[in-house]
Amino acid sequence: MAYSEPYEALDEKTRDISRAITSLREELEAIDWYNQRVSTSKDLALKEVMAHNRDEEIEHAAMTLEWLRRNMGGWDEELKTYLFSAGSLVEAESGGTENSSSTTSSLSIGSLKDK
Ligand SMILES: [Fe+2]
Repeated sequence: MAYSEPYEALDEKTRDISRAITSLREELEAIDWYNQRVSTSKDLALKEVMAHNRDEEIEHAAMTLEWLRRNMGGWDEELKTYLFSAGSLVEAESGGTENSSSTTSSLSIGSLKDK
């Protein structure tokens, strides 16, 4: 675990948040590495094991992200805005996809196809 501030200066909550963020970073890195090995391995049985491990790491990452949502400000609101949304994520930032007259919507795939 790497702290950018003196450990003694951090309260227990901040230390736990740092533990969670460090764990999430490690899980995401493992997901990427396993996914690359799935892609490149020529041994089908090994490929299967690596895919299993990757998917377990996705579960770990999701659990850790949920812990952060419950315990650190900012996450709940942002995850409510973006997770399980559909359409443009940039439009979701400005309040939803129903705002079809916005500048970004004129750049959507649908409008490009119509031309
Ligand atoms: Fe894990």
